[in-house]
Amino acid sequence: MQNTVEIKNITKVFGKITALDDLSLNIEKGKITGLIGADGAGKTTLLRMIIGLLIPDKGEISTLGYNPVTQKDELTPHIGYMPQKFGLYEDLTVIENLILYADLKNVKHDFKKMLEFTNLDPFQDRLAGALSGGMKQKLGLACTLLGSPDFLLLDEPSVGVDPISRRDLMRMVRDMINPQTTVLWSTAYLDEAHSFDNVVVIDRGKVIYKGNPNDLAETPQEFENKVIELMGGYKQELSRIAENYKPLKDIKECTVEADNLEKKYGDFYAVKNNSFCINKGEIFGLLGPNGAGKSTSFKMMCGLAKPTNGTARIMGIDITKDPEKARSNLGYMAQKFSLYGSLTVKENLEFFAAAYGIKFTNRESKVQEIIDVFGLKDFAQQKSEELPLGLKQRLSMACALIHNPPVLFLDEPTSGVDVITRRDFWNHITSLAKKGVTILVTTHFMDEAEYCDRISLFYHGETIALGTPQELKDKAGAKTMEETFITLIKESEQ
Ligand SMILES: Nc1ncnc2c1ncn2[C@@H]1O[C@H](COP(=O)(O)OP(=O)(O)OP(=O)(O)O)[C@@H](O)[C@H]1O
Ligand SMILES: [Mg+2]
Repeated sequence: MQNTVEIKNITKVFGKITALDDLSLNIEKGKITGLIGADGAGKTTLLRMIIGLLIPDKGEISTLGYNPVTQKDELTPHIGYMPQKFGLYEDLTVIENLILYADLKNVKHDFKKMLEFTNLDPFQDRLAGALSGGMKQKLGLACTLLGSPDFLLLDEPSVGVDPISRRDLMRMVRDMINPQTTVLWSTAYLDEAHSFDNVVVIDRGKVIYKGNPNDLAETPQEFENKVIELMGGYKQELSRIAENYKPLKDIKECTVEADNLEKKYGDFYAVKNNSFCINKGEIFGLLGPNGAGKSTSFKMMCGLAKPTNGTARIMGIDITKDPEKARSNLGYMAQKFSLYGSLTVKENLEFFAAAYGIKFTNRESKVQEIIDVFGLKDFAQQKSEELPLGLKQRLSMACALIHNPPVLFLDEPTSGVDVITRRDFWNHITSLAKKGVTILVTTHFMDEAEYCDRISLFYHGETIALGTPQELKDKAGAKTMEETFITLIKESEQ
């Protein structure tokens, strides 16, 4: 059999939304196929349908020769599926999760190799719930690879994974599969997609491109532009969020200050001696590998975690002494979706508008404006937990901005967001900075690091380099930020 999957004319409608629209597609055996497309284009729906977790309204699917609906039990043992939110047992340790998944799949496995591959070896006795975002992704992938499935379906496994570990994930998959294994890999990283055998671009429930990525363009950057073109193009517009922003007058120069911040868990330092000062209107990037301590720093700086030493000041206000007042000056977008899942998009915005103290009389117009600016109109009445990942991120960003804060903390705002929306996010971020908003941001997209005025490269809880993107590149003797990141991290390990 040449094709692992054969799909003929499937349609799937959820309420008013057509997720898949008369879609036909074959997935070749023994190949890695990348699945890309805009947020909400139908990628997750498609993956779930291929393995029988969703039933099409119309059309036919054959997966490994089975009908995924009527022969699900026969099909399942051949499948390794990593959903977007992989179900780790948060109150079990890393090694216990691996053992449990191996037992569930009824396979014997060499955990040592898995732990080494994922760099989780030193953390095998840590609770999965206490892992950083990226470490969780790696453990999820390791569990999915157990038992060497014939067909791997990975739904954005590299979301939130640092550049070095992203290479590790790729290596894990390539090393652990055999030439017969088929991989269907959904991703928002276009450089990743460019390295696969095939790529499928989905747009509004239809396949708009399928083929070898090199046929679209030979270099990743050109490939990204081509994909954007296919998806309807990106036109930079004036950021209405920034246009409507009313700058505060008497703002201090050093608007965000970390002063010897430290966080210790037992005798493990998640953050150690972290000090920096960010000026008004500056975009300050906190970059670093998974588990470096970025989110822990963010949480301490906005008063959600108590430092074991040191403090932070927002607009001169000490976060440990007066957390409420300090917080009223900032908008925080957490790494993990932290909105109310059972509330609609509009209700979430209304909630945050009220929580951030926007007067009742202004609230409705502010909410409408934000819905409009962020393109959330079609989803306003949808429960936020039902939104695709990229749209959840869009909503989180909207909530963080609703009260025009002079300081913004964005913890991986673009993770899992499609390429066009990423450009749009950064258009807002840079425009807000020009208006005087101070921005602390973290990202694993190295092209985005270029938008930062200054970068702190963070590793094992400490700053290992600080400077403008150009200064860091010079320091590493590298041309790109990705190369810079890898070089400086590797150097600091020696
Ligand atoms: N409650 C906890 N108990 C023990 N260790 C913890 C706890 N919370 C976080 N850690 C550890 O602190 C370290 C820093 O985690 P943090 O989430 O800050 O990393 P990060 O830089 O944000 O990583 P990522 O890029 O993956 O988001 C990790 O090793 C993590 O496992
Ligand atoms: Mg983090």
